Amino acid sequence: MDKFVITGGKKLNGTVKVSGAKNASLALMPATILASGKYELANTPSLRDVTSMMKLLQTMGVTFERNGTTLLVNTFRVNKFEAPYEHVKKMRASIYVLGPLLARYGKAKVSLPGGCAWGPRPVDLHIEGMKKLGAAVDLERGYIIAKAKRLKGTRIAFNVSSVGATGNIVMAAVLAKGTTRIENAATEPEITNLVEMLLAMGAKIDGMGTTTLEIEGVDELHPAKVHTIPDRIEAGTMLIAGAMCSGKVRIENVNPEHLSAVTARMEDAGISLNIGKDFIEVAAPKTLHAVDVTTAVYPGFPTDMQAQWITLMAIAKGSSAVTDTIYRDRFNHVPELIRLGADIEMKDNVAVIRGVKKLMGTKVMSTDLRASAALILAGLKAEGETEVLRVYHLDRGYEAIEKKLGALGASIKRVAGEEF
Ligand code: UD1
Repeated sequence: MDKFVITGGKKLNGTVKVSGAKNASLALMPATILASGKYELANTPSLRDVTSMMKLLQTMGVTFERNGTTLLVNTFRVNKFEAPYEHVKKMRASIYVLGPLLARYGKAKVSLPGGCAWGPRPVDLHIEGMKKLGAAVDLERGYIIAKAKRLKGTRIAFNVSSVGATGNIVMAAVLAKGTTRIENAATEPEITNLVEMLLAMGAKIDGMGTTTLEIEGVDELHPAKVHTIPDRIEAGTMLIAGAMCSGKVRIENVNPEHLSAVTARMEDAGISLNIGKDFIEVAAPKTLHAVDVTTAVYPGFPTDMQAQWITLMAIAKGSSAVTDTIYRDRFNHVPELIRLGADIEMKDNVAVIRGVKKLMGTKVMSTDLRASAALILAGLKAEGETEVLRVYHLDRGYEAIEKKLGALGASIKRVAGEEF
């Protein structure tokens, strides 16, 4: 298990390029099961989660090659229709194979994901959706076992907006017989990217980017070339690093529209941003003001930026409240930030943060992906040395973060190989 050793207090300056979006890739890759042939997924990030999805798809007969950031996928020989526990326990997004397998091959056996570090994360909406599309679904010994001769179009009105369930059901419905209408569909950019890919494959989908998707099933799809959108969470994390420690940082290969809730709150906090078509420049403000945020579905403030925002607020002037309405228990980073000197009190799903003048480096433990990002941000600002243990969480979703931050002037090094 690697750790990061960070010497805080360095100014960040320069340009950083954002990689392709993890959460988009994790949907685009399983979509290749929907038609036999060769695909080009451009701007695919090199991340542990992407490797995990490749390994899972390889067990089904899919082959991969990389050409720079383009992932070449070949689905000629799909011959297994199962996502075993060993894969799903590593990465919940493995459940994305359920819809495509069922739609194309009429059968799928997918392990139930179980909980995650910050609490339960159900998949009932995925299962109910497949049932509504006409699949017979049984839960046996921790597995979802689904079968259908051919799925049938239906109306699905989600009571909760779910990124994963929307993606899974769209992928199932594109090959169903008849029309499927999804109401309260997720509008996250990663889902829109998936819909773009399915359209390029010959699917018929109306309402892209809205909460109502209407999908007219087709008999067959064909492979396509797709461009993965930039990772808005990596971009947001880098923006906060810039606001906490710059200098002047320019973030490139970003779609600012995808980040509007984050940049609006940053401006409220007194941070000046120069927002271009595909770049954002950020400079540290003279005074960083406390600003409340409440997470919400897109285009609201993303839960995946909640931990990083708490870190920013930890050094702001005044008190703020950060509420997570999507994942009410996702606050594992808070006790670790307190160890670094932050003043935070939890009240249910609300973190009340009283800004402090400085953070002080120490050893902290990362427990999940975004918590790790928050601890690194804190370490960049803290006085002295911070050790962030168990960075394998971070490697799931941030490509070469120590290189990117190092190039901006941060003192951060990875120490490999020992038992931390
Ligand atoms: C995706 C993202 C994750 C992000 C989350 C919320 C991927 C691979 N991951 O996760 O980074 O934090 O969206 O933006 O894209 N729910 C149910 N039943 C279900 C499914 C979800 O009740 O069957 C609930 C969840 O508990 C949660 C809410 O719906 O409260 C949203 O979750 P969802 O959008 O499904 O998250 P994921 O797709 O798992």
